[in-house]
Amino acid sequence: MIESEQITDDDSSGQDGLPSTNSAEKQTIVMIGLMGAGKTSIGRRLAARLGLPFVDADEEIEAAAGSSIEDIFERHGEAGFRDGERRVIERLLDGPPIVLATGGGAFMDAETRAQIAAKGISIWLRADLDTLVRRTSRRNDRPLLKTGDPREILTKLMEQRYPIYQLADITVDSFDAPADETLQNVLDALAAYRAAEAP
Ligand code: S3P
Repeated sequence: MIESEQITDDDSSGQDGLPSTNSAEKQTIVMIGLMGAGKTSIGRRLAARLGLPFVDADEEIEAAAGSSIEDIFERHGEAGFRDGERRVIERLLDGPPIVLATGGGAFMDAETRAQIAAKGISIWLRADLDTLVRRTSRRNDRPLLKTGDPREILTKLMEQRYPIYQLADITVDSFDAPADETLQNVLDALAAYRAAEAP
């Protein structure tokens, strides 16, 4: 939705520091977090900065199913959606390095979580309730938020999911800051993580 308007040619030419031959740079980065956390918006910007393709798992699931997430939920239920989601994410993790934005429930699946841990670097965009409520109110195509009051639903999801999301490799706060500020925090956290992981 929000494109990386401030990204210049420099951003895709390895100016972020590390040469493109560094294999750690080539690992898939997986954005996780609740609906409205900014996974797609920040993920797109991150991909541009790292010179990696950006892929949105929800869009891939829709393409694979030939129908919208809402239709998949309606026809196959949440369990059917989760099956498709697991398969699609596994396929993407087995492909070339990308920045992958996952749907909010993906990391809750133990098998998907194990795949992400084995094949990628996970980044949790942690947001507060008000931010999530505000951002999710801009769209009306999320089945889970249509079953009741979005604020109550998001509160419950925070309780259920945040203890699991914190298993991510990296956590970055995604509050009401400009996207470029959050992006910089992600880049800094990623660099620190890679430095700590380096042999
Ligand atoms: C879901 C989040 C959605 C989408 C589906 C279920 C969830 O993705 O995968 O509606 O369980 O939190 P976003 O987090 O990208 O909105």
